[in-house]
Amino acid sequence: MSKIEQTLSIIKPDAVERKLEGEIKEMFKNNGFVILKEKKIQIEKNEAEKFYKVHEAKPFYNDLCDYLSSGPIVVMVLEKENAVLGNRNLMGATNPKDAKEGTIRKKYGISIDKNSVHGSDSVENAKIEIDFFFSN
Ligand code: CDP
Ligand code: MG
Repeated sequence: MSKIEQTLSIIKPDAVERKLEGEIKEMFKNNGFVILKEKKIQIEKNEAEKFYKVHEAKPFYNDLCDYLSSGPIVVMVLEKENAVLGNRNLMGATNPKDAKEGTIRKKYGISIDKNSVHGSDSVENAKIEIDFFFSN
């Protein structure tokens, strides 16, 4: 049975700044993802804090929210079969040093904080995150 899913992807400020938007989108398309929606925006720190609320107790939370709001980002809804896990696999490990060959973070990530992309980690969170950015 096919399980078409949608997931939220963000091209983070380090990658937008290095003009990698086109190359990263090509990687999604080459891996069978359809980009259903996309927009380039810059968010306020308080919005980043809401988006990353799950991490609020972590030592990196403040820097993470400063970073996500530091420059333009590209927010996308990606669709394909098993999109959530497929996107996590294509992104690679959180720390680019641990990411496998062929993944976005291996290819473009600079460091654990400047790791070029965000992707939802579950179908449930994908719905919440898509709503966060695309519910008008
Ligand atoms: O993005 P991912 O789901 O792979 O990782 P996460 O554990 O949900 O962490 C969210 C983001 O916080 C990461 O993508 C990193 O940018 C950042 N982070 C960090 O700066 N330092 C850490 N030790 C862990 C995560
Ligand atoms: Mg995460």
